Amino acid sequence: MKQSRVEKFSFVALVAGLGFFVTGFIFQMLGPVIFLKDIPMKHVKELAAEDPDGEFYQLAEDYPDEFKAAFGEATPATYAQALKMGRDIYVAEGCWHCHSQFVRPVSNEHIRYGEVSLASEFQNELHMPPMLGTRRVGPDLSRQSGVHSNDWHVAHFYDPPSVQPGSVMPAYRWFYDEKGRPNKKGLAITAYVQWLGSWKRR
Ligand code: HEC
Repeated sequence: MKQSRVEKFSFVALVAGLGFFVTGFIFQMLGPVIFLKDIPMKHVKELAAEDPDGEFYQLAEDYPDEFKAAFGEATPATYAQALKMGRDIYVAEGCWHCHSQFVRPVSNEHIRYGEVSLASEFQNELHMPPMLGTRRVGPDLSRQSGVHSNDWHVAHFYDPPSVQPGSVMPAYRWFYDEKGRPNKKGLAITAYVQWLGSWKRR
């Protein structure tokens, strides 16, 4: 018996495919545009001003000489500078090859990483373009703020297995001076990872 055209598998697949495309377009393209249009895009200076307890200020006490040479005083303005630089380093070093910045609503990720990410969290200069990440060789970093101390990060970037035995994360020795103290890059990337998710901590 000859099948009618609408019963053919290829026809059903075509309709389903187009359906998924339209749904995807509505939710992933039009949705964010509609829902985010009233939320202002925040500038990095506002982000720094909103985080008066950032670990950046603690870094000034932890590494006074290195900090003074790199940023001078710890103020919201130098914090903004460190955040911007930290993010640029994160992009340049390809940290996003191994780390995501998006807690997904699957696999009970909220238990491991904290609250599921919201689109509004990405509506600022330091998340543009968002580095959602596709591979997760390392853990998600969007709730990293306060998980570890500054000293932990400084030891970790210098030699990851020293604090996390068996770690496959590469060492970033160029974040340090010849004495093994963090330089401007080391301080900026630490301030940046300590900022990630700080808006949830407050
Ligand atoms: C080759 C993959 C890889 C790259 C590249 C990489 N990491 Fe990692 N990272 C890991 C793995 C695996 C872990 C978990 C083991 C550990 O803590 O060292 C980790 C852990 C971390 C942690 C601790 C997370 C936690 O909650 O304990 C931070 C922070 C971090 N990485 C930041 C960075 C930054 C910043 C960069 C870029 C400068 C970077 N990583 C580059 C693989 C990577």
